[in-house]
Amino acid sequence: MGIRVDWDSQDKAIITYSFEGYWTWPHMHEAVRQVYALMATVNYTVDVIVDLTESSFVPSEAIANARQLAVSVKPHTNYSGTTVYVGMNTLARTLLNAVSQIYYQMNQYHNFVFVRNLAEAYKVIEDQRKKEGRVHTTVNKVGVIGWPVTHSISPAMHNAAFRVLGLLDWSYELAPVPPDIVRQSLKMLREEGGFIGVNVTVPLKQAVMPFVQPDERARAVGAVNVIDFRTNLGTNTDVVGFIDDLKAHNVPLKDKTVIVLGAGGAARAAVYGLVGEGAEVVVVNRTPEKAQVMLADLTISAGIRGADVKTIDEAAEISPSLIVNCTSVGMWPKVDESPWIDGVPFPKGVTVYDMVYRPLRTRFMEQAEAVEGRAIGGLGMLVRQGAAAFNIWAKHEAPVEVMYEAAENALRSQ
Ligand code: ATR
Repeated sequence: MGIRVDWDSQDKAIITYSFEGYWTWPHMHEAVRQVYALMATVNYTVDVIVDLTESSFVPSEAIANARQLAVSVKPHTNYSGTTVYVGMNTLARTLLNAVSQIYYQMNQYHNFVFVRNLAEAYKVIEDQRKKEGRVHTTVNKVGVIGWPVTHSISPAMHNAAFRVLGLLDWSYELAPVPPDIVRQSLKMLREEGGFIGVNVTVPLKQAVMPFVQPDERARAVGAVNVIDFRTNLGTNTDVVGFIDDLKAHNVPLKDKTVIVLGAGGAARAAVYGLVGEGAEVVVVNRTPEKAQVMLADLTISAGIRGADVKTIDEAAEISPSLIVNCTSVGMWPKVDESPWIDGVPFPKGVTVYDMVYRPLRTRFMEQAEAVEGRAIGGLGMLVRQGAAAFNIWAKHEAPVEVMYEAAENALRSQ
């Protein structure tokens, strides 16, 4: 359809979007949606260049939908950037001024400027930034490495936290790193990229371990999800994220029987955390041998004993107080699946914790609620592991509520 939203290569603060062909409401709506989704992920004011040099304008449609457009940008009332339109004819300018009146009536200040070419547009934005003293210099960069990382909601959550604490020289960015160049990428991010630290996500949590100094927790779990480049320490905040979220939901753990579904990295963090809190853990996994290996590893790395491997049928008999889904089953787009397979009765009145947060409500959670259970989704764990990383990097108490809200908004707008 010809909508292109690009970051400016220099400082990533200018978005250019252009419509080839007609400039109509659906184009505009989609472009606005994309622009605001991107804006939500950074902590500085974004300027926008609308390149219309290749487009024709359909005035009747644009004016008819101006109000609708204004409504769609209403949630972003704090937007204070400059929007520069390139190559707009006189009629279109008149109409856009009408749109700006509507914005104004809705208490939104929009700084619209019309120019002939892109060079002028860049100049206008540069001048405007200077005038407002808005030269943003990101001194402290953090981010997330993984492959792929495009759908990460971490930038939205961390940048919201930086913004609310006034840490405007901090920014959180996506850093896609293919698994075969982990070592070089870490070096580059640290030495040339100006990164203070990074989150590590799938599939690199184990792969980064030889290149950092893993702390006790990371060694015990066998995975690093946070690196501080200043010390080269690697830690694992998934454990604390998970346990903190259970505590925030008042889920008792001491001497309680907990079923952990899965035997991957997430399950390792869960078993380690739960045993540390005094829970009796039973592991159920599609491949039981992997669960045995996981527990044997945890015995060696963390002295964990007493956790058991069972089949799902056996587990259904033991009336646990908590069941935790540490598999990826039920994750978008396969939202109809559940790690608790059909045919096995779901234990009644149990609390379930689903580490899956996309969707926010999973089939597994519904299964629990259908038999008088209580269900907690995994977004809180994501936020709390992020908050723990934030504390390490920024040495500030993370604003957990703000981060949760930003993460939830980012998920909903995906
Ligand atoms: P992570 O590091 O995110 O935990 P992982 O190491 O790939 O990811 O582990 C995924 C877990 O989900 C494993 O326990 C896997 O079961 P297997 O050990 O049998 O592979 C489980 N899993 C993934 N897809 C599954 C499915 N369709 N049914 C049941 N379990 C599944």
